[in-house]
Amino acid sequence: MKILRVKNYNEMSDKAVEFLLNELSTKPNLVLGFPTGKTPIGFYKKLSKLYKNNLIDLSKIKTFNLDEYYPIKKSDKKSFSYFMSHNLFNKVNINSSNINFLNGEVKDYEKECEEYELKIKKFPIDLQFLGIGINGHIAFNEPGSIKDSKTRLVQLTKETINKNSNLFNRRNFPKQGLTMGVKTILSAKKVVLLASGKHKAKAIERMLNGPISKLCPASFLRNHKDVTLILDERASSLL
Ligand code: GLP
Repeated sequence: MKILRVKNYNEMSDKAVEFLLNELSTKPNLVLGFPTGKTPIGFYKKLSKLYKNNLIDLSKIKTFNLDEYYPIKKSDKKSFSYFMSHNLFNKVNINSSNINFLNGEVKDYEKECEEYELKIKKFPIDLQFLGIGINGHIAFNEPGSIKDSKTRLVQLTKETINKNSNLFNRRNFPKQGLTMGVKTILSAKKVVLLASGKHKAKAIERMLNGPISKLCPASFLRNHKDVTLILDERASSLL
């Protein structure tokens, strides 16, 4: 694992952009995996600005998002689909037919998950960006998720619901999600995990120094041969 330590959130976002630009320069038709959450917002803002200034071309890339709530309508402001449109997809030139998302509107979620796995097999992810949950989750792979887990329906922990429902009405917040599995994430050729802030320091420390275990799903990243962590001073303060 490579660790890039930077000063703050802004520098973390800059480094993520730099990493992506570097990969794009050798492969303009990259297949990218994208996360949601507060962490990548700065990164997405910077990409949108680069596009606005004609400094990046994303017309050839394909994207796969990590996860989505279930059940949820795409138009629901809580949905990750809405989040991505709002924060990135509506602001850059990614071809809409190249955007892949788990659909939280379907009845047959098992079929949806199987098809997502097949699509990822067909278009393997070159570069997967990730965030990390304070309990060590990656995507919606909560503690208890095994290393062979694939795309599936999961129950969210109270902790995750409480944190993610911050800006919304907690009462009707979804309690389940559809998520790429740990194995699906580890199938990406390269992984870049971003973390910023003191509240992430413990999860980062456990991921790197604790046992490799389903109790901290992010720890399975230690089994991958090309992972880069971009951590700000606070997130890396316990290392
Ligand atoms: C969410 C997402 C994850 C994300 C994590 C951290 O539940 N499913 O993909 O990495 O929480 O979110 P944040 O960046 O807001 O701290």
